[in-house]
Amino acid sequence: MNYNQILKKGANLLKKNKIKNPNLDVELILSKAINRKREEILLNTNNKLKNREIKKFKHFLLRRYQKEPIAYILGYKHFWKHKFFTNRSVLIPRPDTELVIEETLKYLPYDKSKKILDVGTGSGCIVLSLVKERPKSRATAIDISTKAINVAKTNAKLHQLENKINFINIDIDKYKSYNYDLIISNPPYINSIEFNRLDDDIKFHEPKLALSGGFDGFRDLKKIIIKSNKLLKINGKLILEIGDKQKNQCVRILNENKFFINQISKDLSGKERCIISTRLQ
Ligand SMILES: C[S@@+](CC[C@H](N)C(=O)[O-])C[C@H]1O[C@@H](n2cnc3c(N)ncnc32)[C@H](O)[C@@H]1O
Repeated sequence: MNYNQILKKGANLLKKNKIKNPNLDVELILSKAINRKREEILLNTNNKLKNREIKKFKHFLLRRYQKEPIAYILGYKHFWKHKFFTNRSVLIPRPDTELVIEETLKYLPYDKSKKILDVGTGSGCIVLSLVKERPKSRATAIDISTKAINVAKTNAKLHQLENKINFINIDIDKYKSYNYDLIISNPPYINSIEFNRLDDDIKFHEPKLALSGGFDGFRDLKKIIIKSNKLLKINGKLILEIGDKQKNQCVRILNENKFFINQISKDLSGKERCIISTRLQ
């Protein structure tokens, strides 16, 4: 069998199970199975495959057919300007979260050393992207999941940032270290009704701990806002990614906890996605 034939067969199988980007996914899967770049595959479609390559391809294809996200099969995801190791223990970094990076950088001067806390670091994509952009910063990244902290540490090593970020496996409720200039978080914020409506790729494969924000979606957002009032310096910034239709309730909780709202930014689809606020007292 040659590349062209296996790509066609693979895409047809994925289409049968309503996989969203079947052609792109089989190209990526073949690229992983034979350890060659996608571009090389597309330029050499008549090349023949070895039996062991076909076997590998089938194994990865079956995983995708069963709706496992492509980022877990490939073992990586591009986010901001970098590639992050990704496995089933962490949320796959989302393009929407790049807005949070863009907005946060406006509050981190290039030549100053700011103390940053990332709550719910997951793969570490947020904190690592920020520290790459602002090398003088010092950061701590926490997560309640031991496995997620291990993935974040692996990514820190891959990006040679392990000496600049302190990774701690702890619940935000128990965390007691103060005087941060900036706290950033993309917390689990999906409510139980929305959770049940998620695509199978997400619902059955990504960690529920990273997605579900409890019955109303505000369980972790509330915790983080209340705790940030203690962990931040006066005038420190709290930057949160929020879900669809969570803005009003979030603003209310922030105001109740003595935060001033600086800005609310929309993502590419026009949804209010990021709230920047300041601890007043
Ligand atoms: C939506 S994911 C975000 C992951 C990553 N920051 C990103 O943007 O891709 C939320 C993360 O928060 C962590 N988490 C959930 N509850 C937590 C808690 N109480 N304290 C600390 N981390 C928590 C989860 O394990 C998960 O890794």
